[in-house]
Amino acid sequence: MGHEVHYFKKVDSTNEVAKKLAEEGSPEGTLVVAESQSRGRGRRGKKWVSPEGGVWMSMILRPEIPPMNAPQLTLVTGVAVAETLKSECGLDVGIKWPNDILIGDKKVCGILTEVSATVDMVDYVVVGIGIDLNVDVDLFPPELRSGATSLKMELEREIQSVKLVQKFLINFEKTYGDFKEGKFPEILKEWRILSTTIGNYVEVHKRGRTLKGEAVGINKDGVLIVELDDGTLKKVLSGECIHVKK
Ligand code: BTN
Repeated sequence: MGHEVHYFKKVDSTNEVAKKLAEEGSPEGTLVVAESQSRGRGRRGKKWVSPEGGVWMSMILRPEIPPMNAPQLTLVTGVAVAETLKSECGLDVGIKWPNDILIGDKKVCGILTEVSATVDMVDYVVVGIGIDLNVDVDLFPPELRSGATSLKMELEREIQSVKLVQKFLINFEKTYGDFKEGKFPEILKEWRILSTTIGNYVEVHKRGRTLKGEAVGINKDGVLIVELDDGTLKKVLSGECIHVKK
């Protein structure tokens, strides 16, 4: 991982750059890193605020898996990020399904997985990771401030981004290696331990509708299972939006 690194002072979005490179044939493990992004993207078309001081990066992966398994890479990456923040910063982090890394109930990192595939095989996956490292979320737009935090704000000191990225890449290489060897069930066990979602009451927003119930588990494919108020079980795919209720 990271044998080919493309570093930029500023780009529109590292995911966009990585997708272009992947289309041109860049190999698995290619890393795109930028100090800031002018058009950082979050899930569901949202803007991702990406000032200097954060870690904004994307990895090109070329796993030999069917497209339906590609969203599992978001969970694989989440486990590697969470383990890195725990071991390097001593923070008690959790994962909100599918991709938010939280400290307490505030988001410190988001993951955006984009897939290019034929009907039966993945061509490439770009996994984008945004970590609010040495940034001041008080400078974020008002609607984002209360739900966000940064490592610097939590630890009251600056964190060396290069060291953190190196540690993450080592952790990710291990977890991704396990994934490619068919050990997703083991990774899910770790994910479950880190999860702040399972056991909580959630609201699922889908095509303008809101469903409410308890997140009771995650199945072997990484799909969240919610027991709705009427007792029926609903599978929630990673493209859908959930809110965890206190
Ligand atoms: C989310 O939680 O909505 C996902 C946020 C993903 C942000 C990262 S920053 C690096 C990469 N480039 C982007 O434009 N987005 C991802």
